[in-house]
Amino acid sequence: NLIMKSAQTIGVLVPNLGNPFFSMFIKGVQAASRERHFIPLIFGANHDQELESYYLQELIKRAVDGLIIASASITGEAIDNILKKNGIPYLLIDQNGGPSLDRIRIDDTRGGQLAAQHLVALGHRKIAVVMPDQPTQNLTVRLAGFRQTLQAAGIAFTDANVVHSPMTKLGGYQATAAIVAQQPTAVFAINDETALGLIRGLHERGLRVPEDLSVLGYDDIDLDEYVVPKLSSVHQPVVTMGEQATELLIKRIHNRRQSGQTVDLPVDLRQRESTGPVD
Ligand code: RIB
Repeated sequence: NLIMKSAQTIGVLVPNLGNPFFSMFIKGVQAASRERHFIPLIFGANHDQELESYYLQELIKRAVDGLIIASASITGEAIDNILKKNGIPYLLIDQNGGPSLDRIRIDDTRGGQLAAQHLVALGHRKIAVVMPDQPTQNLTVRLAGFRQTLQAAGIAFTDANVVHSPMTKLGGYQATAAIVAQQPTAVFAINDETALGLIRGLHERGLRVPEDLSVLGYDDIDLDEYVVPKLSSVHQPVVTMGEQATELLIKRIHNRRQSGQTVDLPVDLRQRESTGPVD
């Protein structure tokens, strides 16, 4: 029987399909959807609020059964006006709209702490951070964990040590001059894409990683193992995040009344070649 009661579709919105973090997330979404006989409709919102509301509206018109929104630009307003008003089950990942009823919780405090501990253990005391100037909640928490650990180690770190740039390869690349101007011995890039762009920029200026400057990323995307030097990073279990988000959403679609569920997922440090001791 090919005719189903519902179309068994979920909409998935991510900020940037070009970032392997989100293709890995989608891999998890697809695996879990397939198992439950759902089909995901996937869109990249390109960090664009208008495009994002457009896709949201269109997905709702097409009567998707639920939505996973991993997009940084969604506003609380869009959530109220589009999602809540239409009574559609949804799950938010990594953004500002306030927690959804069901949640995938990643320990960003710990991620930031692990990043700082790693650099401190290598003897770094002049450390810079690259991140967006309007960070989502998870990034704010990540930075807070990082800062906390540096402070506990007696290392001076202020807002002046944070260079702002979009969370992309180009953003990281364009942050190079501002980073170099600070003369840090180590940089914590808030995600791997930023780290990769920055490493390119440093290379063009004749700076060696990690000999002149250590660079630590965050996410642990698959590229990390293939670039030179291999990128040290904080691992997020992103495929599992995609699977679990889908599981929770489909459970919610089947049972609107159950209480909110939270899945906690851990992070850990993957030391590779881009971080090393201070000379
Ligand atoms: O690379 C994408 C980044 O944005 C990740 O660190 C993720 O946590 C998201 O917020």
